[in-house]
Amino acid sequence: MGKGYYISKHLATAAMVLAAIALVTIIALSVVYNREKSKNAAKFSKATTLPVFPTPKTSNEPWDKYRLPDTLSPQYYNVTLWPRLVKNANGMYIFTGISGVMFTCEKKTDLILIHSNKLNLTVFKGHHAKLTGLSGVTAPAIKTTWFQSETQYLVIQLEGKLKPGKDYWLYTEFTGELADDLEGFYRSEYMENGEKKIIAITQMQATYARKAFPCFDEPGMKAVFHITLIHDRGTTALSNSQEISKTNNPSLNLGPHNCLTETIFGPTKRMSTYLIAFVVSDFTYIDAKDKKGVLVRIWARKKAIEDRQGDYALNITQPILEFFEKYYNTSYPLSKSDQIALPDFNSGAMENWGLVAYRETALLYDPRTSANGNKQRIVTVVSHELAHMWFGNLVTVKWWNDLWLNEGFASYVEYLGADYAEPTWNMKDQTILYDLQSAFAVDSLTSSHPLSRKEEEVNTPSEISEMFNTISYSKGAAVLKMLSEFLTESVLRIHAVDQTPGIKLPYSVHEIMNRWILQMGFPVVTIDTRTGNVSQKHFLLEPEAVVDRKSEFNYEWFVPIKWMKKGQVQDQLWLLQKSVSKNEWVLANLHVSGYFRVNYDLGNWERLLSQLESNHQVIPVVNRAQILDDAFNLARASIINITLALRTTKYLLHEREYIPWEAALRNLNYFFQLFDRSEVYGAMQAYLKKQVKPLFEYFGTISSNWTTVPSGHTDQFTQIIALSLACSTGVEGCRELTRSWFKKWMQNPPNNAIHPNLRSTVYCNAIAAGGAEEWNFGWQMFQKATVAAEAVKLRSALACTKVPWLLNRYLEYTMNPEKIRKQDATSTIGYIASNIIGQPLAWDFVRANWDYFFKLYGTGSFIFSGLIRDVTYRFCTPFELSQLKRFQKDNAETGFGSGTQALQQAIEKTTAKIKWLEGNKEPVLQWFLSESA
Ligand code: BES
Ligand code: ZN
Repeated sequence: MGKGYYISKHLATAAMVLAAIALVTIIALSVVYNREKSKNAAKFSKATTLPVFPTPKTSNEPWDKYRLPDTLSPQYYNVTLWPRLVKNANGMYIFTGISGVMFTCEKKTDLILIHSNKLNLTVFKGHHAKLTGLSGVTAPAIKTTWFQSETQYLVIQLEGKLKPGKDYWLYTEFTGELADDLEGFYRSEYMENGEKKIIAITQMQATYARKAFPCFDEPGMKAVFHITLIHDRGTTALSNSQEISKTNNPSLNLGPHNCLTETIFGPTKRMSTYLIAFVVSDFTYIDAKDKKGVLVRIWARKKAIEDRQGDYALNITQPILEFFEKYYNTSYPLSKSDQIALPDFNSGAMENWGLVAYRETALLYDPRTSANGNKQRIVTVVSHELAHMWFGNLVTVKWWNDLWLNEGFASYVEYLGADYAEPTWNMKDQTILYDLQSAFAVDSLTSSHPLSRKEEEVNTPSEISEMFNTISYSKGAAVLKMLSEFLTESVLRIHAVDQTPGIKLPYSVHEIMNRWILQMGFPVVTIDTRTGNVSQKHFLLEPEAVVDRKSEFNYEWFVPIKWMKKGQVQDQLWLLQKSVSKNEWVLANLHVSGYFRVNYDLGNWERLLSQLESNHQVIPVVNRAQILDDAFNLARASIINITLALRTTKYLLHEREYIPWEAALRNLNYFFQLFDRSEVYGAMQAYLKKQVKPLFEYFGTISSNWTTVPSGHTDQFTQIIALSLACSTGVEGCRELTRSWFKKWMQNPPNNAIHPNLRSTVYCNAIAAGGAEEWNFGWQMFQKATVAAEAVKLRSALACTKVPWLLNRYLEYTMNPEKIRKQDATSTIGYIASNIIGQPLAWDFVRANWDYFFKLYGTGSFIFSGLIRDVTYRFCTPFELSQLKRFQKDNAETGFGSGTQALQQAIEKTTAKIKWLEGNKEPVLQWFLSESA
């Protein structure tokens, strides 16, 4: 292995070199759990069944294994790449390249395995590479070379052995396709002033660096990279490091070289291959120097920079970098920080070291057309990616099984960085919506899995891709937040895990954390105020579900419970330890600092409900949201009565805060999906109409009849909820209002007077109420949009039409990248599926085209899980369940790639809903009828 800093191994080195104590904490945490994991390995492996990932075909040949052997370790690479931004004679876009890697032999071997995928390597004397020994060492001759396509290796067998401790140089020349597949070195296209522009860009995570040049493509195989790009004069080349020279008309052995420029970049730090990036474009930038002289630049299309869409990102980057320097107690590790907005990009953003890449919507903000939600997205994504510049990039997981540490940590601290940049936005409270509650939704299924996976469980590119899931991100963030809450943020930051000065814990940190990291799921804590008894149970959405996966901790957790009694904050208590005093109203999981749900005896539920209705402000905002979410989910799991859950929405008449409304809306939405095809729908609509009316009127008043927006950041979100719920439930005046705004715009485009915050709702309502004329207008505006955030609003609104042929045509468009970009195809299908008319159409479409999508996106892509989740979201009947199972069977051969878990989850959720509906539909109907009367 190389000498980089790995979370699981080089603790001491990392600590010394970095003096980054926050990192040390997490490193120590991971060391602790690795230790525990191996201690328990024997026990574990016997007891544990692994239903999710199929075990790879075993073979004894090293080239059939997905993991590299530990015989060689790369030191540095010299890579030169030349992307062609015009088609060649065969109508293809290609790149050519040369690459050399210096590696050290760690163990005697006559075999070199190096990743290489979809590259066409030049043959020298019958072999695909040249090998030389360094410092006077003679390299053995190459016996034979070939490609092992399944494991994506270039295999080089040698006549003799490489010698331990000696260094060698492996040289290759190659060409590759600069495809539009969003993976590796690829191309992106966009229109500017009626002209089609092509740029060359990269996305290496997790296993695509091997598609750009041959490399030891594992995160633990860190090396230094010397990168050189050849490009047309007049275009700009960017990479992880600063450029050190730029030469026109370089002398090249790569072919004709008129009007070319060669840009050479300085050596990178020692880093993982998945963080490499290069870009060739004619983008422009804005820049600034931070206090320590670090050059900060925002790059984008010329028009976007001219329109000042990069300004917001530039303004927040500086405080965010400053925040993380303090937080990690370590300077920003590089001399420059580039961030670039790309028209075609598969994920939201990517933390390439020194050259972070974003979707346009995640970096570009146009105050005239972007909503405040778009702005919030930018500050959180930038904060997330910049957090990785230290945690993830400087200190890196050795293998993808530990991805949760990387992504979970960034997902936790992104709120801290965003809060620092936008202190009035209440960012930290929002974690409960975007992390805790979304993690609960999948972690309450038996198909869930522990945060930490064993190294052997994660091998293939699809398995790696599947690690980028809600558990790694959101549960990771929620569990780390809980840790920081009981240790306090400063102890988390400043001290290693076994020293927690001033904090008394009943168990060691690693004993506590192991239970959250090594076993899946979470507890529901039940507090019985009649007896004072506090108990816990593994929370499962389907109470009778059989949990195949065994836990060495028997699904019991050490639960830190913060709580309040009659409005007074009490000392934290620790389950399995204590009991609460009797007969007082209590509220547990105060400030929702813990990753668990709470149930109470009926008497206490009644006391909480009446507190909510008489004076809800005594209960903290986030707890109001959590009471709702817990109650609805306890009811779905048949632990409490559904009418009790429904009653938690009655106080909403008085609620004006965003977080509780959003939590309510999500749970009610779930009800909409269950009931909007049944007789419950009418009664439910009537009830909700009654509940939202005061909110709608309140915002109408404070916004001078919808002509201004409230000043508070989250109040602006609540205003959107008020408008959209009022229109969907038919509150008088709402639909007329939105229709008239849209009409004005249609009559006089492009002058759009609709406030950016309200556009999504207004567009959706108008297109839903209209026909082909409205739809076609929306489509035209979509195609003309020069601000990505505006395009998304239209793209999602176009899915709101109720006209089946329009929806079907729109579905067809998702297969045509000229109409809908590939990066947007699956989310567009998802929008269509959330429409009651569109859902069956989308489901048929996905079933019919599964093979096609699979080929289009490769087997590694992140996006399948979302696609399956979205098109099956409404399923709740036995017939739909049988269709799902049929789909699973029919495509068993093609497979589901990174959507495998999502399919499992869909089946489990549908099964649970069918059972639940059997006993609950009637009481729900009765309740809505009685409450809406
Ligand atoms: N490292 C990821 C990007 C990524 C995701 C690469 C999946 C390959 C596969 C990046 O740090 C990330 O997490 N991006 C998020 C946005 C973030 C704010 C949660 C994304 O792309 O959605
Ligand atoms: Zn991330």
